[in-house]
Amino acid sequence: MIKLSVKELPRDAKIDEEILNLLKEHSLAFVSGEMIGHHLKMTRTAVWKRIRNLKTLGYIIEALPRVGYRLTQSPDLLLPSEIHPILRTKWMGKKIHYFETIDSTNSTAYQLALNGAREGEVVIGESQEKGRGRLGRQWVSPPFMNLYLSVILRPKIPPHQASLMTLMAAVATAHAIEQYSDLTPSIKWPNDLLFGKRKVAGLLNEIHSETDRIHFVILGMGVNLNMDEKGFPKEIRAKATSLKKETGRPVSRRVFVGLLLEQLERWYEIFLKKGGSSLIEAWKVRAQIEGKRVRLTSFGEVLTGRAVDIDSNGALILTTGDGERIRVVAGDIEYEEQSAIRSRKS
Ligand code: BTN
Repeated sequence: MIKLSVKELPRDAKIDEEILNLLKEHSLAFVSGEMIGHHLKMTRTAVWKRIRNLKTLGYIIEALPRVGYRLTQSPDLLLPSEIHPILRTKWMGKKIHYFETIDSTNSTAYQLALNGAREGEVVIGESQEKGRGRLGRQWVSPPFMNLYLSVILRPKIPPHQASLMTLMAAVATAHAIEQYSDLTPSIKWPNDLLFGKRKVAGLLNEIHSETDRIHFVILGMGVNLNMDEKGFPKEIRAKATSLKKETGRPVSRRVFVGLLLEQLERWYEIFLKKGGSSLIEAWKVRAQIEGKRVRLTSFGEVLTGRAVDIDSNGALILTTGDGERIRVVAGDIEYEEQSAIRSRKS
């Protein structure tokens, strides 16, 4: 059971959002402090204080005495007011809960979902104090660098198909990365996204269900976007990468979020309409898992075997050295050789 409390978006942050919206609506003109104050029911001095705060966040706002304010440049923040103007989804991400710092976007999304949040609501943190990875690990989440995002979904599917949501999130994230960068990451079962042997994104999906019904799924996505090598802790430096490192260019985080939400909406709808098979196909193209020798760690046990396939519910099928065929639903794998991958190109 996850223990947490949801901090409401601070009032000041909501006011900042509204000021930004006003300034963006009149992007070519100066907007007077009086007009903003009137609109938001606050004094001109209070408006000035919020403008001062926005400048500390990186917004460049011209101020002309007795005339007003004009927004000339925005930083790459993940505020809803930055994402919504470029978001082309029908329903995914229309409501974004934004936090400058948060314990974990997954924990907060879980709590919001328990309190009735709707399908497609999204939680974004600029940083996480207790970012969670799979199998109880920590997810390094420094501010204003990467993406830490969780989506609430309420699929009408039986709980045994929940792993397919994990595959869906991996496929959607891979497509978003490809669309942004023209680079194709591979997928490592169940849902790590890699360039070579280095991880660029990880997914942590959590479900709340009863025996025959899912109440909701939280898809948690951590994508390393602008992290430099030194930003990663020493222990994982050799195993981690970022999209900036791979492309050699800084990544616009808000553009990436827009693409990711579009891909999630697209693949989720494909899954609901056509079932798991099209999803599994797309996953297999990127995972190229069949025939590879793998070392599996699952519930404290380690074994080696050859990957045969993944089944219709997303479980990994392995054959062990003595010919036994086993089905694995959770764990971590390492590849023992690379040759099988190169020989199969789709
Ligand atoms: C993994 O171990 O590979 C999964 C990492 C998942 C990290 C993301 S960041 C956003 C969301 N909130 C969390 O606390 N974790 C996930």
